[in-house]
Amino acid sequence: MGRIDPHSFTESSEPATRHIGLALYLDFPSSTIEGSALFTLDAPHTGPFSLDTRGLTIHSVLSPETQTPIPFSLSAAHPFSGSQLSLTLSNHTSFLISYTTSPSSSALQWLLPPQTLAKSHPFVYTQCQAIHARSVFPCQDTPAVRIRYSALLNIPSHLSAVMAARHLHRRPPREGDLPATATAPASWCSPGRVVEEFLMDQPVPPYLFAFAVGGLGNREVGPRTRLYAEDVPALLDSAAAEFAGTEEMIREGERLFGPYEWERFDLLVLPPSFPYGGMENPRMVFLTPTVVKGDATGAQVVAHELAHSWTGNLITNKTNEHFWLNEGFTTYAERRIVEAVQGEQRATLNIGIGWRGLNEDVERFKDNLEFTKLKNNQEGIDPDDVYSQVPYEKGFQFLWRIERQFSGIGMPREDEVADWQGQEWELYLDNLPKSIEASQLFSGVERELLSGIFELVIALDSRYKLSESKDYEVKVSFLQRAISCGCRDYYNEVEKTLKEVGRMKYLRPLYTALVKGSGKEDDKVFAKRIFSEARECYHPIAQVDETAYTMFRWARSERRHGHVLLGWERNMASCVSLRWE
Ligand code: BES
Ligand code: ZN
Repeated sequence: MGRIDPHSFTESSEPATRHIGLALYLDFPSSTIEGSALFTLDAPHTGPFSLDTRGLTIHSVLSPETQTPIPFSLSAAHPFSGSQLSLTLSNHTSFLISYTTSPSSSALQWLLPPQTLAKSHPFVYTQCQAIHARSVFPCQDTPAVRIRYSALLNIPSHLSAVMAARHLHRRPPREGDLPATATAPASWCSPGRVVEEFLMDQPVPPYLFAFAVGGLGNREVGPRTRLYAEDVPALLDSAAAEFAGTEEMIREGERLFGPYEWERFDLLVLPPSFPYGGMENPRMVFLTPTVVKGDATGAQVVAHELAHSWTGNLITNKTNEHFWLNEGFTTYAERRIVEAVQGEQRATLNIGIGWRGLNEDVERFKDNLEFTKLKNNQEGIDPDDVYSQVPYEKGFQFLWRIERQFSGIGMPREDEVADWQGQEWELYLDNLPKSIEASQLFSGVERELLSGIFELVIALDSRYKLSESKDYEVKVSFLQRAISCGCRDYYNEVEKTLKEVGRMKYLRPLYTALVKGSGKEDDKVFAKRIFSEARECYHPIAQVDETAYTMFRWARSERRHGHVLLGWERNMASCVSLRWE
């Protein structure tokens, strides 16, 4: 027993919903929906069964076979989670709920004709992510439960409906449309009404439920893409032109991530009040009209929502606490698509803008660091309140850095390095992503996951033999790098180098890496032994160089802990006191 998602009343011990058959009567004058929802569960269930609702008035819950009422209760409303609808089932696999939505349903925006572009028809649309589906129909409103659904939308016949689902028919309403037990709205079959029938037979998380109803027109923009918007020719034409490259992006997506599994990829441009840039509703992405402006940015938003067709819609986060899995992977996938169709430079520009956004939001949450984490705790938190670029851009950075460490980007190709001299290697080694260790943006766990640098160091040496290079620039840069990532394989080389050469340019970085780099005590002991053995061979200047001073300070702190000073340390103490203290 227990909740599986901090934002849902869904109980882990209760069966999941397999299918919901919805019949929705949209009443524009009252801005409400009279709904009936026929549930089929994965397994018969006896005892309490919990659903999420928000602002719904529940009229009845019935057994569809026997028409007998099923007892239910509705809890007091929580500010953003809504009310728990608790049914008491007796070996039921299915039940039928009749309900009405509230005019202030949080998923729905009802627009009067003056609020639209064409000014002639009303408009209504949904935005269910993250936890608003429950304000349209009762459901286990957690992405951990995926449902199939069918939907009949009963609407005024001068309007048309679209859904994030397969369109089956537009036809006159019929008496038999609703299950016999449902309390059908009196005007279901009134003249001037029409039914649009849809089917979503791929299981989707409830946040991907979506429809829009209004005076819609459309344009074909590709073999599997039609553009829908208010029926205003200028808007339809400019949006169709903006999104003409959509098929090319779908093809690139397929090349990168595998077959597009949703059959259609239609686009819906909403009235200007749509609250997001885009929403990845399956089969039909919802878009703000602000992206229709004739440059590349419209295509970028489409690339992002398209990318969700793989990352998010085929595999999603279990709860909103793992939202970064959804948006971070999608932002990564989006930029791979943008790189393929608009070129590397455009993708790089997007990465730069994203990085700036990440830093802004990390600053915004500086007093609430929980929301700078990838996986965060959202107990008692309204997801809409903590929406930020962190899951997108930090998630992207995380994946991108892993890519650079593990792919060909980490390991230069043989033909690339053929004419490299010491300086090229020095710069290359210097630029390996060591910033992860230091970056404040990543937590300990994340840093650990990113520390693939160790493997790269070994791989580089086995291919290019850097640790044995005759060129000290290369050899020392490499050894320094190996020491600071905690790789012990090259300590023989380190010792040999420190004993065979006295040039301070090489001694300094190696001793410093040993004493400060890895933070391991063994490394310091190792450094101290080598220094004491090699010191006699160093020129007097090197003997009291800053590196030596680092060694001395460390030795002195050891002495405080009971160690006896070696000869050179006593010597050092006097030199150092002259030069440094
Ligand atoms: N799924 C999001 C929008 C969203 C997130 C709605 C959380 C509600 C709750 C969508 O895929 C998205 O990320 N949209 C971005 C597009 C941008 C990154 C190109 C937006 O709207 O800004
Ligand atoms: Zn997204």
